[in-house]
Amino acid sequence: MIQIAPSLLSADFLHLEKDVEMVNQYADLFHLDIMDGTFVPNISFGFPVVEAIAKKATKPLDVHLMIVNPQKYVERFAKAGAAFISFHYEAALEQSAAVIEQIQALGVKAGIVINPDCPVEKIFPYLPKVDFVLIMSVFAGFGGQKFIPESLDRIRSVKKELARIGRPEVPIEVDGGVGVGNASAVIEAGATMLVAGSAVFKAPSPQEAIEAMRNA
Ligand code: DX5
Ligand code: ZN
Repeated sequence: MIQIAPSLLSADFLHLEKDVEMVNQYADLFHLDIMDGTFVPNISFGFPVVEAIAKKATKPLDVHLMIVNPQKYVERFAKAGAAFISFHYEAALEQSAAVIEQIQALGVKAGIVINPDCPVEKIFPYLPKVDFVLIMSVFAGFGGQKFIPESLDRIRSVKKELARIGRPEVPIEVDGGVGVGNASAVIEAGATMLVAGSAVFKAPSPQEAIEAMRNA
């Protein structure tokens, strides 16, 4: 099953309710990008926005933490309504196993994320524990960037390693520059959760863009 997770970073914040309803109706997850201006050179939004979305959302919230010290904020995002929380391996390093356990202890699905310049093998030790893996196909920090084609091989490597350790069911999410034009390639490589910001919210018909990606 392919799931489409529109990234609300590209939503219309003046009319957020309208975009939340669109996701409820046509998509599978709300992808919420949390940026702290330190781990990435950009600041997005925080708890009040996540809580407001949670009130109206009928689809699960998928919170992508691009922050230093993820362990400090995981609990608050769980309380704010996250069903999935992913954190960057580069931000947690040897704390990664502890962060995964912390997220899972809150009853939330735990995902580990890597940027395009981080060797995929770095996250292999955590694959026996995670609930999903997020492969960045652009450098975290901004919406609207171009998909990095080498990401396809990185998805394949993670898929292969998950199969090797007997966990082929663990979903692989891909984030950055994903749209109607490359959805079939990322799905073929092994991703089943597709994040899309501009490809959904800048499309003449978000509904058609979502359906085209899901059926790519
Ligand atoms: C980038 C974010 C993405 C971003 C995707 O740091 O993690 O979720 O919003 O936007 P698009 O789909 O426009 O590349
Ligand atoms: Zn994201």
